[in-house]
Amino acid sequence: MNTIITLDEFIIQRQKDFPYATGELSGLLRDIGLASKIISREVNKAGLADISGQAGTENASGEAVQKLDVLADNLLISCLQNSGECCGIASEENTTYVPIQKSKNAKYVVLFDPLDGSSNIDVNVSIGTIFAIYRRVSDDGECELKDFLQDGVEQVASGYVVYGSSTMLVYTTGKGVNGFTLDPSIGEFCLSHRDITIPEKGKIYSINHSAFYKFDENTQQFIEECIKNGCNFRYVGSMVADVHRTLIKGGIFIYPSTSSSPNGKLRLLYECNPLSFIIEQAGGRSTNGTQRIMELEATELHQRTPIFMGSTDMVDRVEEIITTNSKVMTKS
Ligand code: AHG
Ligand code: MN
Ligand code: MN
Repeated sequence: MNTIITLDEFIIQRQKDFPYATGELSGLLRDIGLASKIISREVNKAGLADISGQAGTENASGEAVQKLDVLADNLLISCLQNSGECCGIASEENTTYVPIQKSKNAKYVVLFDPLDGSSNIDVNVSIGTIFAIYRRVSDDGECELKDFLQDGVEQVASGYVVYGSSTMLVYTTGKGVNGFTLDPSIGEFCLSHRDITIPEKGKIYSINHSAFYKFDENTQQFIEECIKNGCNFRYVGSMVADVHRTLIKGGIFIYPSTSSSPNGKLRLLYECNPLSFIIEQAGGRSTNGTQRIMELEATELHQRTPIFMGSTDMVDRVEEIITTNSKVMTKS
């Protein structure tokens, strides 16, 4: 029989990778694992209990909030509040960050998108949770805005959970990427995907094609090339699921700037940075077209950015198109 390694065992084994680690980061990762098991349970019975549908409110970005968004948000906040290792959280669903008073001197802050792909909840399509962990930069005491507005390169860990045909948790602490599948019969995430690497060459492109005529010319040119080159097109509409497929099968995931949303739709702190850390750790690339996503300066909590991420060959090509076209523009 193969030896089963649970998420908790794996986290403890890996703690030795950090010579001065005191176990707080490991504790935080375990708490997020626990919260996501509860979210997974709730997601799985969404059609049965009165938890699907809209909550009747809007979030900080003006989008309709679903009941499961609220539930996932509350669950994560309460698990992190009880953990003692986190001095504050910021979530896509809350206008501002939330300091955690009872562990206000703790070293870490956690940022998350509690439920990504909300529009897919009611139709039983994969959705997910995305998280990023940073060391605080402020002194002891209540956390401050600057603890959350850090560059993506400062992440100490990030990951996601995809509630799909099975529930999977994938995370990195900057030493490769590992994936765990939830075995519902024992209620444990078990190591199923060790040291994940993204294929260097991709053959799948993923973008909301219906907005083609709203994309800038560079993105249009790249998409036309993908079609001419015989690439496949896939788009779930939950970033976490689209990026998960991109990680495993290779390809590119794009949410570009559009004429109606010049900064794209996706949020730098809750979606783009954590998933970029995973993709880069797996050997891929992530850019806004001219700059590495994880080096973008964060100036506000709900900041958005265009994003191109995935296999190196495809991200390189889209960047090449952008650079070449901007040179032509400056010459003429
Ligand atoms: P969220 O549900 O957290 O608001 O995120 C939804 C995002 C993302 O998951 C997905 O990639 C994108 O919205 C889809 O947007 P379009 O419908 O514009 O393609
Ligand atoms: Mn999202
Ligand atoms: Mn969300």
